[in-house]
Amino acid sequence: MQHAGVFITFEGGDGSGKTTHINFLARALRDEGREVVCLREPGGTPISEQLRDLVLNPENEAMGSRTELLLYEAARAQLVEEVILPALERGAVVLCDRFYDSTVAYQAHGRQLPIDFVRAANLFASHGLVPDRTVLIDTQAGAEVGLKRALHNRDGDRMERAGVDFHTRVLQAFDQIAADEPQRVKVVACQPTKSGTAQLVFQAVADVVGWDPEHLSFDQAYFAQADAITSRNKRQGGEAR
Ligand code: TMP
Repeated sequence: MQHAGVFITFEGGDGSGKTTHINFLARALRDEGREVVCLREPGGTPISEQLRDLVLNPENEAMGSRTELLLYEAARAQLVEEVILPALERGAVVLCDRFYDSTVAYQAHGRQLPIDFVRAANLFASHGLVPDRTVLIDTQAGAEVGLKRALHNRDGDRMERAGVDFHTRVLQAFDQIAADEPQRVKVVACQPTKSGTAQLVFQAVADVVGWDPEHLSFDQAYFAQADAITSRNKRQGGEAR
């Protein structure tokens, strides 16, 4: 699907730090005067946020895997129609925390629903929209560590409570998706510092946002801001503008 904007999605297991890197990239693009729309899936519209509450609420123990799949797809269909397609038509850069690769990883591999149906449902809900680039954040730490990080100081949502075996299947599925579509999906291995990881994220999206991947015009000092910005952002509970 042709559009004037750029559509970049971020994927990874729970607790992989995607949000941090989305915020940091958004800031760099906005500093260049570009319109950036940051979204999360499920979510990003009033209807999709209500569906998010429903699908992630740990009290909904009775929810079946098919219901779960359809709720994620419903949230996506609304987000694509109401926000993503109009933003791309305006020429914005859309950064989305998760998109249909998560459905393949969590519902087809995690929940073990039929992959062909999941793919067809993804196509339908996303109106055929394919990300220009997908950044897969790989903590290289395994499901258990990721879950511990995600559940630090809180009880966990319905998906986070699905267990280590489930989340191990999810991580393996993301690796497979990256291997199957190397042009679209770039794997970023987490570095010891956030600034190191941020630098790799910038390189991974450079060509699609029009930066020279070999000579990014951001120096070490720029990337060193990553920690300060993200901790301030966490305190404020919002995205970096
Ligand atoms: P997050 O926004 O904190 O990552 O939470 C979203 C959760 O929903 C996360 O556990 C991944 C899961 N998920 C799916 O299972 N299927 C999907 O299609 C999407 C978008 C997310």
